[in-house]
Amino acid sequence: MGKIDVNIAKVLTLVPEEKITSMEAEGAEALAKVENGTAPGNDFLGWVNLPSATTDSQLDEIIAAAKGLQTKCEYVVCVGIGGSYLGAKAVIEALSDSFAAYKLPTGNPKVVFAGQNIGEDYLYELLNLLDGKKFGIIVISKSGTTTEPAIAFRLLKEKLEKQEGKKGSVERIIAITDAKRGALRQMATEEGWKTFVIDDNVGGRFSVLSPVGLLPIATAGYDIKALMNGARKMEEITKGTDLSNPAMLYAVTRNALYRDGKKIEILANYNPKLHYLGEWWKQLYGESEGKGGKGIFPASVDLSTDLHSMGQWIQDGERTVFETVISVETQAHEIFVPTDNDNLDGLNYIAGKRVDEVNKMAEIGTRIAHVDGGVPNIRITIPELSEEPIGELIYFFEKACGISGYLLGINPFDQPGVEDYKRNMFALLAKPGYEKETEAIRQKL
Ligand code: PA5
Repeated sequence: MGKIDVNIAKVLTLVPEEKITSMEAEGAEALAKVENGTAPGNDFLGWVNLPSATTDSQLDEIIAAAKGLQTKCEYVVCVGIGGSYLGAKAVIEALSDSFAAYKLPTGNPKVVFAGQNIGEDYLYELLNLLDGKKFGIIVISKSGTTTEPAIAFRLLKEKLEKQEGKKGSVERIIAITDAKRGALRQMATEEGWKTFVIDDNVGGRFSVLSPVGLLPIATAGYDIKALMNGARKMEEITKGTDLSNPAMLYAVTRNALYRDGKKIEILANYNPKLHYLGEWWKQLYGESEGKGGKGIFPASVDLSTDLHSMGQWIQDGERTVFETVISVETQAHEIFVPTDNDNLDGLNYIAGKRVDEVNKMAEIGTRIAHVDGGVPNIRITIPELSEEPIGELIYFFEKACGISGYLLGINPFDQPGVEDYKRNMFALLAKPGYEKETEAIRQKL
């Protein structure tokens, strides 16, 4: 039995149930395409069985590599972008103390990220942070040729070699890349770095449960076996061919809403640790579904924070939106609102209540307000922020994304549109081989 619950009761107050149940057979067909690989994109379905196919000894090898970095490093810089960045970032943030970055060393190295932007100040400040520090690098690129991580890695490698010498740097760099192809694979072979492989049939945004996500997560000190146990459970649960399969229910419901004119989905959380889960989810759904003039636009908000910024729009703006809330049942810690004799802030009416009870009332009150305002609400409940339910949640969203993409009638596993900006950037930078494009783009400036 899994621990995640998908509840569409507050969709059904606005949309006839028939619109959803009538799509069950179509949903089952889309699921079969994911399970059996019978549709375009079937060469990128390695993630479907990744949890059950990953053996304990493979996980032990990742844990051993993580321990090696932990013993040698105060900081580990995880270099990558998109699918080679967001999954690890999302899981580490969800599991970490909110103030970990400001605390004195606790035993495990701090995992920091680079290569997900080309911010000059960001890179300068990172290099500055690492000055004279013991650090290591996990460099992740499936293609091995992506510009953003390549720039960051070149800078970090140079710094590491200066600080630790060639031999010391080799012991502190781990590369995760294609088994055979790409510049990163060639560099790793020539330099003798330890490597892990991203399988050919696992796309970047579906790779968090491979070494791409697992090595950084283990390095940050989290239990990747529990994470994978959660994912394995969800792999089983989401084989169900009717709407009791939570991934199918979510995929079918969001497509029913899309067909009903709801073009934007807002993923909301009431727990600041889930901010990056929203970022990861946006990549997963945005890059998978935004094709051929189609696709639900994935947006995310952190509540109640954003109720004071985006709340007005959600409540009262154009009615083309629906909301999916991730609700975390139990908090790890208890705090009670204190009594104040003067009660100048008027808060004594909630004195003695847990802060989480107040947060839950904000959540329920907001749900009712948004539904009253015409915003259908899907609620996804997870019991707590720990490895196993997070593993379930990740696999749940991945599976639902595959089903949803096929329901939409697109190939959810390619990303042809991502190449356009790269081509223009290379042309503007006069990259060898782009001479014609350089000439053409200069006419457009
Ligand atoms: O999901 C995807 O395929 C992309 O977001 C990639 O992960 C991203 O572009 C990074 O690519 P690479 O790992 O090849 O550097």
